[in-house]
Amino acid sequence: MNAEGQRLVVISNRVAVPKARGAAGAQGGLAGALNSALGERGGVWFGWSGEVDDDPADNVHLHRAEDVTTATIDLTTRELGEYYNGYANETLWPLFHYRIDLARFEQRTGEGYERVNERFATSVMPLIDADDLVWVHDYHLIPLGDRLRERGAKNRIGFFLHTPWPPTRLLTSLPYHERLVRTMLAYDLIGFQTREWLSSFVHYCETELGASVDKCTGTIRFEGREVIARAYPIGIDWDHFQAQGETGEARQAEQRLLASTRHRTGMIGVDRLDYSKGLPERIDGIGRFFDQHPDRTRDLVFIQIAPPSREDVKSYQQIRQVLEQKTGQINGARSEVDIVPIRYVNRGYSHAELYGFFRAAKIGLVTPLRDGMNLVAKEYVAAQDPENPGVLILSEFAGSALQLGCEDDDGTARGAVLVNPHSPDAVASAIARALDMPLEERKSRYEAMIGTVRDDNVQAWTARFCDDLAAD
Ligand code: F6P
Repeated sequence: MNAEGQRLVVISNRVAVPKARGAAGAQGGLAGALNSALGERGGVWFGWSGEVDDDPADNVHLHRAEDVTTATIDLTTRELGEYYNGYANETLWPLFHYRIDLARFEQRTGEGYERVNERFATSVMPLIDADDLVWVHDYHLIPLGDRLRERGAKNRIGFFLHTPWPPTRLLTSLPYHERLVRTMLAYDLIGFQTREWLSSFVHYCETELGASVDKCTGTIRFEGREVIARAYPIGIDWDHFQAQGETGEARQAEQRLLASTRHRTGMIGVDRLDYSKGLPERIDGIGRFFDQHPDRTRDLVFIQIAPPSREDVKSYQQIRQVLEQKTGQINGARSEVDIVPIRYVNRGYSHAELYGFFRAAKIGLVTPLRDGMNLVAKEYVAAQDPENPGVLILSEFAGSALQLGCEDDDGTARGAVLVNPHSPDAVASAIARALDMPLEERKSRYEAMIGTVRDDNVQAWTARFCDDLAAD
């Protein structure tokens, strides 16, 4: 069955109602992707308003606009602490990004997480009609499908995880891991960004739960239920992003960056200020490049745009300090009266401005230590001039590396220059290579990437997921 015509109910932690949007560029890929999915189909988008209200009244705020109704609830201070800052971002996020050293395991926050999932289920249930497709997003809401089933939902319910899924031996360090994963099997369809995260999930289901798995169809059979698990790599909103590139705002941003970098090559990074993004490691790689090529301080300027994120969580406060210190050290050692090698900017920019910055910067540096997908890598490629494209340096541990780091039949590397982000030497030599790369190679690498960036876009992602969800 095709999902067209069926109303969609999307449920995610954040909802991009104007009040909750925050600085552009800080909201991550999820909000943009869902905006576009719902814009096409119409329906309801339910989630947290971004506001805190300690009044216990359980009001749902409804905002009706053309085809999409956004419905939000406020969280109490305690819920915010236990569910969002606590279990979601101090336990699941680090664990899912392979950072068990940063993960905290507290029963109190786990219980708060469960309670907020219950509250989401109770509040959204009256908004779901019998024929709706229900699509739940991300690690904040893993048990939600199960809670909706408990309340009688018979709909087709899908879940998409925007982050990586950790290897089984890492996941088993989570207390009550089995309970969490069992609740996932209440969904009809579970989507992951890449085959790598999918196969870790399947491995867990087989080895820890004893489920039987048909790897051709992705069918997992467990205790009388059948669930499909597949990879659905998310893409960018190509048309929207290209339209942004046509604006005066984008052109001004491009000129602004070009004018300020003059004869130097601009290299850009745009990331939420998050330890998974590998920012201190990136700065170490840049430091290594300048150490190895002291004569090239005047050739390169690095612009790191890093809007702060999850500022109440300690590991995020710490990463910010480390980054400021490392940036300060390199700038102190390498600056001249007229040049500063690293521009470090703690704010977000509009999509149009980012398009302009990406186009002006001849190197895109995207080096997360672990990332579900990373749409910045795709946006960087999408903003390039086909006649004079820049070079994308991409972490081999980003989900997008599976699509953008390709090889020809003869084994020649095409697409992005892939690096191990943990190695400052690897990052330094990739920068040296990108700086000196001839136009012909830049063009052929760009051509190897642009097709997937354009065609495997967010609309195609939504259609694939929703069609599979609608199919019985
Ligand atoms: O992709 C992971 C994610 O948590 C998204 O859900 C979200 O859009 C983005 O990161 C930003 O995070 P937060 O909502 O915590 O600011």
